[in-house]
Formats: sequence, structure tokens, C-alpha cells
Amino acid sequence: MSDLASLESEILAQVSAAADEPAIEAVRVSALGKKGVISERMATLGKMAPDERKAAGAALNVLKDKVSEALSARKAVLGEAALEARLATETLDMTLPVRPQMQGTIHPVSQVWEEVVQIFGDLGFSVAEGPHIEDDFHNFDALNMPPDHPARQEHDTFYFNEKPDGSRMVLRTHTSPVQIRTMLSQKPPIRIIAPGRTFRSDSDMTHTPMFNQVEGLVLDETTHLGNLKWILAEFCKAFFEVDEVKMRFRASHFPFTEPSMEVDIQYAREGGQLKIGTGDKWLEILGSGMVHPNVIRAGGLDPDKVQGFAFGMGLDRLAMLKYGIPDLRAFFESDLRWLRHYGFRALQVPTLAGGLS
Ligand code: DAH
Repeated sequence: MSDLASLESEILAQVSAAADEPAIEAVRVSALGKKGVISERMATLGKMAPDERKAAGAALNVLKDKVSEALSARKAVLGEAALEARLATETLDMTLPVRPQMQGTIHPVSQVWEEVVQIFGDLGFSVAEGPHIEDDFHNFDALNMPPDHPARQEHDTFYFNEKPDGSRMVLRTHTSPVQIRTMLSQKPPIRIIAPGRTFRSDSDMTHTPMFNQVEGLVLDETTHLGNLKWILAEFCKAFFEVDEVKMRFRASHFPFTEPSMEVDIQYAREGGQLKIGTGDKWLEILGSGMVHPNVIRAGGLDPDKVQGFAFGMGLDRLAMLKYGIPDLRAFFESDLRWLRHYGFRALQVPTLAGGLS
């Protein structure tokens, strides 16, 4: 027994001498680990006579418990000391200046997109969407532009490779195909706008191969040209945030409308900036007209029963006009300096009622 007593004091001395967590772990392994002194003694129990084993086993268990207890007590003390030491070095310097946070801006196109949706939303329109990759039917045929129609050549279309059946998909050249998709999937009364990307093989100061348009379509039993003019006037006033906009409705031609009109708004150039609503110059902003009976038919509806108007305008162009941005190409170059200059802070969308929501 005295042998066990001296072993106990030896181990307990090691425990209290352990100065850090790795040291205490080493003591644990040397005493209680598989090859530790106590474990080795436990292994000799099997060879003892039953009586002897009982007494020796009990004594060894007592020793084991004492050592385990001492180990965990020491471990707790050391753990706390380690934490204290770490906390002492990890002081927070409250006087450090705040690190600058990079703040993003809303792209002018996104801003104008939201404004347009908001204004037409106030006028009872909902938003419709269509795919960027279109077939001939939706992009051309159904819009009263059959294969030999001259307007097709004016569209600088991006075509995909021919399919086995000879047809070719296109990157939609305008948002007008959404008119057809809406007619085929919704019953009149229809009142939608379709903002979205469009594509034409064209590039200069005012043209980029990818650009954005917004399409409008209203179809029911009675909508007429007067309604179209009113809606467009309301839109222009709300969008350009002016009380009056002088508008000129010029007879024009689009395959998908009859009659067709192009719409100009009056503006003045003041100090290099455009001022909408006054002046003596005219700026074309959109195409529009009463939906052609052939288009209504292609949309699966009866032109003797439903009628209405459509319009289409360039979202990017609206952004250039409203916010005085001279070069369209810069819109899509992702230059951070440009975005910081022309971008918008979040949560500022004018409503029809004016002001900010
Ligand atoms: N789709 C025409 C374009 O891309 C714009 C347009 C004109 C759309 C007249 C219309 C419309 O809905 O009625 O140039």
C-alpha cells in the first residue's frame, strides 16, 4: 500500500506542477493512458489471487478516481488562466476609426426600370415577361412581319444556328413578342408592361448590341387611341417629374399597329442639359399604335371583339434623357467610377403622385 501512496503523491505532484494544458494532458496520459502507470497496474490484477485482487483493485480504483479528480480540477484552473491571459491581450480599441464600408449604387437602368414599373403600376398595369431567346413566330411572324417583310431586315437580328427543321432561334430584337405571349396566356382585359433586354447587332454612341426596352399592351373591348394618348401623357409627366409635357403624335408605320404613331416630347437645351417639358425642340421617345388585327388574331383573340393599343420605348434612352447621360455604351461597361457618378442610392423611387416613396 505504501507503494500506492507514494505513487499517488508522485502523480498528484506532477498534476500540480503542470503549468499549461499540454503539460496536464501529458500527465494524464502517463498516469491513466493505455500505457500509463495506473493502467499498467490494473493489468496486473488478473494474475492475482481473488482475495488479493479484490483489495488491490479497490485501492487502485480509489487512486484512479483521486488522480482523475485532480486532473480535471487542475485542467479547469489552467483553462481559466489561459482564457484570462487571452482576454488580457485581446483588448478592443474603441478609438479606432470605423473602416469605410463600400456602398453600391443602383444602376441608372435599374432605377429607370423601377420608376417605369412604379408609374405604370399606379396606372393599373402589371408586369409581364418573356424569354430573351425567341422563335421567329413570337419575334416576327405573329407581329405581322412575315418572312419577306422588309422591316425584318431593319432589325439587325442575332440568329442562332439552324435547327434540323431549318428554323432559327433569335435573340429577341424587341420586347414586342411579350405582347403575343401575354395574349396567348391571359384573357382580356389585358393591361401589361414588359420591361426587358433586347438585342441587335449595332454599336455606336446611342446603340449597343444589348439594350433595354419597355413594351406596353392594353386590350379590351373599348380601348381607343384617346386612351393611348392619355396614358402616354400621364406617363411622361410622372416620369420626367413635370406638370406639363408638350407631346407630338406623328403618324408612322409599324407592322404590328394600325394606325401607328411615333411620339415626340418637347425639350430645351439649357447649359448642355436637356430640359423636358419646355422649349422648342422635339425628341422622339417611343413608338405606338392601335394593335393590328393580324396581331390580335395571332394572339388567339378575335379582332372583332377586342381592341387596344401597344407602345414600345427604350429604357436606356429614357435614362439618358432624364439623367443627362451622354453615351449609351458606358451603361454596360461596369466602370465603378461611372456607376458611382451616375448610380442611385437605394429606396428612392418617384411615384405618380410625385415625391419619393
Ligand atoms: N417594337 C418596336 C421597336 O423595337 C417598338 C414599338 C413600336 C413597339 C410600336 C410597339 C409599338 O408596341 O406599338 O422598334
